Amino acid sequence: MSDRQSEASSTRRRFLQSSAAATAALGTFAIPGNVHADSGEMLKIGLIGSGGRGTGAAIDALHADPQAKLTAIGDVFLDRAQASLQSLQQNEEIASRVVVSEENVFSGFDAYQKVIDQVDVVLLTATPHFRPRHLAYAVEKGKHCFVEKPIAVDAPGVHSVIASCQAAKEKGLSIVSGLCWRYDLGVQETMRQILEEKAIGDIVAIESSYNAGLLWHRGDKPEWSRMEYQLRNWYYYTWLSGDHITEQAIHSLDKTAWLLGDQAPIRATALGGRQQRTDKKFGHIFDHFTVFYEYPEGKRVYFTCRQQEGCTSHVDERVLGTKGQAEVLRHRLYDSAGKPTWRYEGPKPSMYRVEHQKLFESIRQGEPINNADYMTNSTMIAIMGRMSAYSGKTLSWDECFQSDKQLGPAEYDWVDVEEPAVAIPGKAQPV
Ligand SMILES: NC(=O)c1ccc[n+]([C@@H]2O[C@H](COP(=O)([O-])OP(=O)(O)OC[C@H]3O[C@@H](n4cnc5c(N)ncnc54)[C@H](O)[C@@H]3O)[C@@H](O)[C@H]2O)c1
Repeated sequence: MSDRQSEASSTRRRFLQSSAAATAALGTFAIPGNVHADSGEMLKIGLIGSGGRGTGAAIDALHADPQAKLTAIGDVFLDRAQASLQSLQQNEEIASRVVVSEENVFSGFDAYQKVIDQVDVVLLTATPHFRPRHLAYAVEKGKHCFVEKPIAVDAPGVHSVIASCQAAKEKGLSIVSGLCWRYDLGVQETMRQILEEKAIGDIVAIESSYNAGLLWHRGDKPEWSRMEYQLRNWYYYTWLSGDHITEQAIHSLDKTAWLLGDQAPIRATALGGRQQRTDKKFGHIFDHFTVFYEYPEGKRVYFTCRQQEGCTSHVDERVLGTKGQAEVLRHRLYDSAGKPTWRYEGPKPSMYRVEHQKLFESIRQGEPINNADYMTNSTMIAIMGRMSAYSGKTLSWDECFQSDKQLGPAEYDWVDVEEPAVAIPGKAQPV
């Protein structure tokens, strides 16, 4: 075994050991007697974090299971919960199964507990920072979960989710991840061609990009505390979103991880900064990153992500193999001379619908799905890229995964929280 292989396998061993330790730290849960529902039984769905994706996820869930009803909605802001409910009630296809009474619309930092307490299945679609806490409570209460990406914004959050997912496994609960490309039939078949049929030989390297435009901003009001400002504009604060490499580009890093066997990279070397997103209103996140990830056996991922206007947008993975190449999202394969050899022409149902169909089937059939391994590994890979870019240092997986740096305030309250500084590579700590 080469030094690098041995380093990689011990790194992986440590990842698994840490996962087990995290599980032990959480304690053992009693297994509830009836965590699945026979066909026909009504399942109550609760939505936590009722923004754009959460409202969409509620629609997908109701389409996926005709016996399910949405019975509770929670958001840290009452206006967001009410707006989501109103839009769901106006959706003719599912409105008859949106049965959320006024008392079941919750707001505040504890809204998640009130929702979870009274439903069977929860849709965890709030701002990423809160995911570990929301998931831990849902699992403690024995609820099946749809868990949006990313599952955390820092390494302690990833450890917490690993522990919660292990507890979910022991309780027979389903944990379905919102890393939706895993449920896309075209991507699944392209991956099968590459990984099982070996249609492009062995993978040598992957060129991966999530290069897109700028996003929304929700303004400011004099009466808002700085906590309210940051939460309403959560995208621009690393403690809330994880920065765009974690929040958005995780979709790309999840596909590169899938292509490389969902193992941990050995090291990451990253650059990044902000050139268009310089106004103070954009908090402190970057608008571009480049990361070189080193994997066992000399494999490499060359990754970029950008959120800037007026630049070329491109989102895909080009996989370089010993016998050819592939484009994952375009579902195409080429031989080593660049000649097209295959393209996916099968059905293309919405991956958002499929992930919910799988979730509800798993609950009804009593065969829980648990997407913990890839959703925690891929989130950590994205966090690792950010830590390397912010600090300007090449970092090992262990340094990042063992980091105890927890992002965000110690307590949540409507006060004036600090305005974090933009990280200057070479001067900032890896966070
Ligand atoms: N899988 C995908 O393709 C996809 C697409 C879009 C968004 N997402 C993910 O979904 C999540 C939400 O994104 P969005 O676009 O809907 O954002 P959004 O801002 O529209 O919605 C997030 C909601 O969460 C609420 N919230 C914040 N903190 C909360 C807390 N502590 N408790 C309850 N609610 C809280 C916010 O007030 C907001 O209404 C993010 O993690 C994002 O990455 C995934």
